[in-house]
Amino acid sequence: MRVTSVGHAGLFIETRHGSVLCDPWFNEAFFASWFPFPSNEEVDLDAISSPDYLYLSHLHHDHFDPRFLREHVSKETTVLLPDYPLDLLERALRDVGFKHFVQTTNCELVELDGLSVAISAAVAPTDGPLGDSGLVLGDGERRLFNQNDSRPLELDRLRELGPYDAHLLQFSGAIWYPMVYRFSEQRKQALGRKKRENQMARALRYVEQIDGDYVFPSAGPPCFLDDDLFHLNDLGDDPANIFPDATVFIEYLEEQGHDNGRLLIPSSTADLARDGVPVEHPLPDEEVAQIFERKREYLEAYKARRQPAIDAERASWPRGVVDVEKELREWFEPLLAQADMTCVGVNGRLLLDFGEGEGVKIDFEQRRVYAWDGGDEWEYRLGLDKALVEACIVAGYEDWINELFLSCRFEAERKGAYNEYVYNFFKTLTEERVQYAEGYYAEQSHEEQLFECEGYLVQRRCPHLKADLTRFGSVEDGVLTCALHGWQFELETGRCLTSDDRRLYTEPIDPERKRDAA
Ligand code: FES
Repeated sequence: MRVTSVGHAGLFIETRHGSVLCDPWFNEAFFASWFPFPSNEEVDLDAISSPDYLYLSHLHHDHFDPRFLREHVSKETTVLLPDYPLDLLERALRDVGFKHFVQTTNCELVELDGLSVAISAAVAPTDGPLGDSGLVLGDGERRLFNQNDSRPLELDRLRELGPYDAHLLQFSGAIWYPMVYRFSEQRKQALGRKKRENQMARALRYVEQIDGDYVFPSAGPPCFLDDDLFHLNDLGDDPANIFPDATVFIEYLEEQGHDNGRLLIPSSTADLARDGVPVEHPLPDEEVAQIFERKREYLEAYKARRQPAIDAERASWPRGVVDVEKELREWFEPLLAQADMTCVGVNGRLLLDFGEGEGVKIDFEQRRVYAWDGGDEWEYRLGLDKALVEACIVAGYEDWINELFLSCRFEAERKGAYNEYVYNFFKTLTEERVQYAEGYYAEQSHEEQLFECEGYLVQRRCPHLKADLTRFGSVEDGVLTCALHGWQFELETGRCLTSDDRRLYTEPIDPERKRDAA
């Protein structure tokens, strides 16, 4: 088994039983904020364009690059799909043109003509764009775990699926915290230091648990080439910078007693079939070292090459083409009306502050969206260029984390503690997504989750994808239909008429009304 890095989390894995292309990312992402580091401009695209299988771990755009997939990857390729409750990833891949899919079940092995594949799928609303995953791949001789940037919980199961010759995982930041926050510089430094330590300590835990023979730092950090963001790069092993590079993590592993970390840069290959897993780089070792040791110089040259793409992206941002307040009101208010747990969780007002006294407030208490009057009655404030919000509206982005927030092109301020409901709201900007998140939160809560319906107490959340049946259910002739995807259930028995493997909990309110035991 031979692993070639194609940059960031991207891998081209050649085995005795076929090849797998994982998370190829080549085009700038998040409003041209993120670029692969080191650059993968020199990767031989022809060599990776016709894999047998494609694995896309999740929809974040440093993993899912629709333009690259559309232009460069054969649509005859079979896609390996994680076990996500919502089929957003499959839909996105079908849109790009893929037609062949293998649906996996969480952490269960699938045999594909000699290849063994298992995908661990994390599905909480906090996991990536409503789902993140890792790939176990074996060819009968060698096996690897490409954990990517996922945080799997089923460690016992993953160990059972091993042992692993190679473990690839993220160790660096992929978030806007704490850099965009309006904290004192001193506080920001302290939080950054803690974050940098925590993320490497977490990766170390996974390294020790998975116990692969060799560890390959992967999936980051990106680099930032726009002038506005260039300061985010870790240019001098800054202990408060959350984007340490792979050499820093390998050194950290060594300090912790693990000398099995190996560096990959784009086009490096690791031959897992040979003792010692030799890594070959596309450049002499000295030049590879210089990428990291003289990073500022390297990034400045990279920036000069990519500046036209950054300029084009910035020039494309729409200005004054939509009425932002009206559009957000019409879009968000119906979602807020359904988002009981989110609204209670946020319990405040969020200001989108466009500067010069202009802004829009999203009021999670009153479930309303309205123009800002310039006052300071808000609990959360996001200061940002209005054009970016316009861009989200024009494109109809259903997940603003995956476009706007990961861009780091905003400033955040809050009165009080961090509240994960705030950001989660921005990744659930459709009815389907909001219902999924609400259902997930409801399952975690201890609230009674039954409601009265036509003489029965009925489970409030749809057994399909957790829609709130007090809002989406309607009953006709004793059959409850969930309007979100049309699944149907008999009230008397709870039997699902749409699928064999689901059931709706129901119980008659009137004890005289005996249920047919059969
Ligand atoms: S959530 Fe899909 S049918 Fe109810």
